[in-house]
Amino acid sequence: MAGFSLFRTVVAALALAGFSLADLGGELQTRQSADPCAAIAGQNYTVPSKLLACLNSFTFDTTLRDNIVDVVSKSLNFHTSTNYQRNAPFPFVDVHVDVQGELARIKGSTYQSDYELHKDVSSQLKRLFDGHCTYINYCYDSLFVSYLPFPLVNLNHGPGNLLQSAFIAPEAFDVVSKEFAPYIDQWQQLAGFNFTKYSGAKVLLIDDTLPLIQIEKNAQVIGGYQGHSTRQNSFFSSYIRAANEWSYRMGDFAARSLPPTKDYVKMTVVLANSTKIETIKVPFISRTTVSAFTSGADLWDKNCKAKSTTNGVDYFAAPAPSNVARDGDTAIELVDPSPPKFAEPIAPQDRKHPISSFIDVTALTDITLPPGLSPPEPISGNGTARFYLQGKVGVLALGSFSTGAGYEAWFNILNDGLNTLKTQGATHLIVDVTNNGGGYICVANYLHRFLAGPKSTTVPQAGFDTEARYNTLASNITQVIASGGVPEREVLLYDPVNWSYANSSGKFPENLNWLEPPVKKVINGQQDAFSQRLGDECQPFPVSVPDAPFFPPENIGIVNNGRCASSCSIFTITMAKLEGVKTAVVGGITLIPQQYSGTVGGQSTSFTVIDSEIKSTKLKSNALAPPDFIGNAYQGITWRLGFGFDDKTKPEEWQNHMAKDSVPLTLATVNRPEAIWKELTHRWWPNL
Ligand SMILES: *[C@@H]1O[C@H](CO)[C@@H](O)[C@H](O)[C@H]1NC(C)=O
Ligand SMILES: *[C@@H]1O[C@H](CO)[C@@H](O)[C@H](O)[C@H]1NC(C)=O
Ligand SMILES: *[C@@H]1O[C@H](CO)[C@@H](O)[C@H](O)[C@H]1NC(C)=O
Ligand SMILES: *[C@@H]1O[C@H](CO)[C@@H](O)[C@H](O)[C@H]1NC(C)=O
Ligand SMILES: *[C@@H]1O[C@H](CO)[C@@H](O)[C@H](O)[C@H]1NC(C)=O
Ligand SMILES: *[C@@H]1O[C@H](CO)[C@@H](O)[C@H](O)[C@H]1NC(C)=O
Ligand SMILES: *[C@@H]1O[C@H](CO)[C@@H](O)[C@H](O)[C@H]1NC(C)=O
Repeated sequence: MAGFSLFRTVVAALALAGFSLADLGGELQTRQSADPCAAIAGQNYTVPSKLLACLNSFTFDTTLRDNIVDVVSKSLNFHTSTNYQRNAPFPFVDVHVDVQGELARIKGSTYQSDYELHKDVSSQLKRLFDGHCTYINYCYDSLFVSYLPFPLVNLNHGPGNLLQSAFIAPEAFDVVSKEFAPYIDQWQQLAGFNFTKYSGAKVLLIDDTLPLIQIEKNAQVIGGYQGHSTRQNSFFSSYIRAANEWSYRMGDFAARSLPPTKDYVKMTVVLANSTKIETIKVPFISRTTVSAFTSGADLWDKNCKAKSTTNGVDYFAAPAPSNVARDGDTAIELVDPSPPKFAEPIAPQDRKHPISSFIDVTALTDITLPPGLSPPEPISGNGTARFYLQGKVGVLALGSFSTGAGYEAWFNILNDGLNTLKTQGATHLIVDVTNNGGGYICVANYLHRFLAGPKSTTVPQAGFDTEARYNTLASNITQVIASGGVPEREVLLYDPVNWSYANSSGKFPENLNWLEPPVKKVINGQQDAFSQRLGDECQPFPVSVPDAPFFPPENIGIVNNGRCASSCSIFTITMAKLEGVKTAVVGGITLIPQQYSGTVGGQSTSFTVIDSEIKSTKLKSNALAPPDFIGNAYQGITWRLGFGFDDKTKPEEWQNHMAKDSVPLTLATVNRPEAIWKELTHRWWPNL
């Protein structure tokens, strides 16, 4: 423990000298500025305490509070799941929040600052554990991302690889020294020690408690996935096949969307290949994701006020607003209001091609997976879909169902890649969907149909039947469209022409208000109402499909870290539950059953799109219509919810998705996709 007291002395000396990270970037500050945001202005990096002072300098305003509550609350009337989320069934016991009740409480509360209000709103929405129903305020969420230099991994290491512990990722310094290259020296100076020697160290304590306690604390607040195992796993670092490279997710421990309340984390570690125990104070740095500001007022102007894409537009208003792009004469697309940094599988909110995507509050940074860990050149693929061959085992690394190519290109990429694998001798297939947050619904359906062949589980419906939430405003929107009250058809989400009867008798007639009569249900003791059941709208696909199973189901396995949502859920759940393919989650906590999928949904959208539906049907004055956001915020919703397979009358969302295999990670496999695929091959098909 001598190391720690020596270190404390160094830190104390630095503190006495008035030394701080923020000072390293610019000139010495001689006068204390009254504006805490001016104090960090023009810097790319700061420390959490200075960032917090800045964020807390925005005064609490009841008008902003009421506006946020009204927009979010009224948007949630279009979200399918609010009443289910009051009390989800086992094993999703963490999901129990009366979110409308919490919003009403917030409307009657006062706060020390606007940021304190944000934290309350954000944490209540996170309690839904639903990455479709994400609330973001761009004024705060990931304005800066706060990092630790030590991403963690969960390894089975030691005698027989039976014992499991948290470790600092062996690649930690490699990743961090590249990603933070301009700053690594100052970061190490701030720490008072060099980071290299801690790569691969075993973590005994974090802030004087066992790592498992910190993993659990994070799992309670991080939101996103209803599965507890998935939120545990999200604490650790992982890889993702991004559009242009293999990239690295730091994990919730080492990357935070809001500044932590302390500038340091205390860690007690055992150095790699050693028995030496050290306790160190590890400094966070907070890195900006936005363009430079000069003061609090300037920061607020640039980041905290509604932008042209925050609220919806009347698609039919003339002249066309700048955020509406007319494509040819008929199609109209709304540019996605969420900056790419948030939406993992970023896809246009494309009227014609429904998407289902997970929205992460922690900004995605294009941190590169070190070349030593990355697979070699793929034999086929594009964007986030890449194909590899390991002997007779073909691998499809699929980081999303939409990124990196246009809609139709996606079908061709999958068709070409799978055919290339087979032509080159593949008899088996591993699909790696680690950190796949979804994308185009019909691409997920296509991949299921492609692999499984034509059968009752894939034709005419290769995905989920779904239902939309009923409310009278949604019915009024649909009524305006169905009765010919809009100048153009096939533009609006509620237009009957693009949705189908569940009995496969085709699309709805153009004059049908398909929300009437509502299907009434009692959910967790609450009266609720939904649309009739909707069937498939994806088939026929734009690209041909094989007339027989492409590989036998016993020759197919799916792997991830649990973080597979939305369209990824459609693909994995149909493959696992209907076709019986193998599923594995890597790196989970020993003895905790692992969910291979979560945030299932059916189709996702946002307040912005619903607001456009309302404005385009001239219903903004309806009492149920959400007002416009005053601030720069985003509210996602699940617009359609998929019906389940185990219990066909209930949503798939809260049915069990337990992986058949839970595969521990070791030093030899962690964050090495190729090594993981080899291990799975050995486990699943030992004779290959
Ligand atoms: C901040 O980052 C930008 C973009 O990388 C760079 O141009 C600028 O010089 C940096 N500012 C400081 C103060 O380091
Ligand atoms: C950290 O490394 C730098 C060179 O990379 C070296 O100059 C410095 O002395 C090292 N600091 C400590 C505390 O070991
Ligand atoms: C620990 O030892 C192994 C095996 O000799 C070696 O590969 C690894 O690089 C060492 N790790 C560190 C941090 O020294
Ligand atoms: C991959 O997709 C991009 C974007 O659509 C396209 O520009 C590029 O030509 C494609 N590459 C190949 C090899 O198909
Ligand atoms: C809205 O829908 C409700 C329920 O169908 C109906 O009673 C009401 O008249 C509608 N309002 C308008 C303005 O169409
Ligand atoms: C929507 O409906 C129109 C008219 O039936 C049809 O031409 C178009 O292809 C449909 N689009 C989709 C995505 O189903
Ligand atoms: C399908 O359902 C609709 C609405 O319930 C009904 O009108 C139609 O007759 C049904 N078609 C078939 C083929 O069962």
